[in-house]
Amino acid sequence: MSVVGTGYLGATHAACMAELGHDVIGIDTDPAKVAALAAGTVPFWEPGLDEVLRRGLESGRLRFSTDPGDAVGAQVHFVCVGTPQQADSPAADLTQVHGAVEALLPVLGPRSLLVGKSTVPVGTAAGIADRVAGTGAHVAWNPEFLREGHAVEDTLRPDRLVFGVTDPADEVVLREVYAALLDGGTPLLVTDFATAELVKVAANAFLATKISFINAMAEVCEATGGDILTLSAALGMDPRIGPQFLRAGLGFGGGCLPKDIRAFMARAGELGVDEALMFLRDIDDINIRRRQHTVDLAVDAMGGQAKGRRVAVWGAAFKPDSDDVRDSPALHVATALREIGATVTVHDPRAVDNARRMFPDLEYADTAVEAARDADVVLLLTEWSDYRDLDPTTITPVVRHATLIDARNALDAGRWRTAGWTYRALGRPVA
Ligand code: UDX
Repeated sequence: MSVVGTGYLGATHAACMAELGHDVIGIDTDPAKVAALAAGTVPFWEPGLDEVLRRGLESGRLRFSTDPGDAVGAQVHFVCVGTPQQADSPAADLTQVHGAVEALLPVLGPRSLLVGKSTVPVGTAAGIADRVAGTGAHVAWNPEFLREGHAVEDTLRPDRLVFGVTDPADEVVLREVYAALLDGGTPLLVTDFATAELVKVAANAFLATKISFINAMAEVCEATGGDILTLSAALGMDPRIGPQFLRAGLGFGGGCLPKDIRAFMARAGELGVDEALMFLRDIDDINIRRRQHTVDLAVDAMGGQAKGRRVAVWGAAFKPDSDDVRDSPALHVATALREIGATVTVHDPRAVDNARRMFPDLEYADTAVEAARDADVVLLLTEWSDYRDLDPTTITPVVRHATLIDARNALDAGRWRTAGWTYRALGRPVA
């Protein structure tokens, strides 16, 4: 099989397919990425992926190339390229998806199955099927649900598999591809293109809704003296609600949730059902409001002004255990404070290189303690366990003011307060 696109999704998928015993060629237009992967180096931080990659390369079942022509002879071609938000609209940019399909056209034939995994607006698969029809190839849609930081586990032990197909023969091929997982009991849903495409965006819209719901409750807690942690714990004990994705704080970011809900709204507009998804506008607004609220709290903590003040930011990645800084809430807050005159020093255990590339104007530190030096306020913006393990008494001597804003509700409030810190958290009472 071939896997086109070797980013977070494609590199993981290629390596995991080799792990399942398939012969895989990973294809990407970026020669640096291909060279790194071929040499056994994962060009981003994803726990456990390096071992799976190494095993694949050593077995001889996994190769990488920049030449789509090398996909010749593969029966199944997975499309795993990115679908970012368009620069000037909320809709998805499908340039890479269409580019991948065009690049594969010369190697497609009547026995080929092109399988889309990228998150796309509903209707895309049908368009691609029309485009490749002349080669005799078939198309299937098989969305992925992997979370960064858990990508290998989510690929090898997924909650479910979804096959969007138009021909039972294509289901048979996909069943062979995933035989090991299906034999292991992974539930399978076989459906049409539209449903398969919608499952993915609907899942992400639901997750985003859950996060913004709890963050809306955090806003209400802040106005009433309520405590979002207890409220969230109590809600989560209702099995109809469940405890997952009810962590209140700075909200969601990353390369999926924010752009997926916007692209979903844009597509609904094209389909004439924009009213059905109007609520996602509020979900997006609540999410962005948390970022501005954190900026306001920081300015407030610095006596009402940012100019000339020093801010320490702990965390740059959009979530812990990832080096991905795409639409990172942490960097949004950091740059907003920088824009109003603060000097902002950022620390992150893994994401500093990516953050520096995108925001060279921010200052960066190698350790959390260094970032906090002379700070007027310390902001915890991504909940890496490294920060949880910090002893507040080791930070106190280096800061100018011992004030901490825990925007992820990640730290032990009592411990920091006992150590003499002014501790504020989103959605929690001021002590
Ligand atoms: C998400 C989906 O979970 C995954 O199924 C899909 O395939 C891709 O998009 P990912 O972007 O890797 O995965 O991150 P996820 O773990 O879902 O977190 C998304 C964002 O929500 C992060 O910024 C995280 O910090 C935030 N979040 C998550 C919260 O603010 N509160 C929560 O309770 C959970």
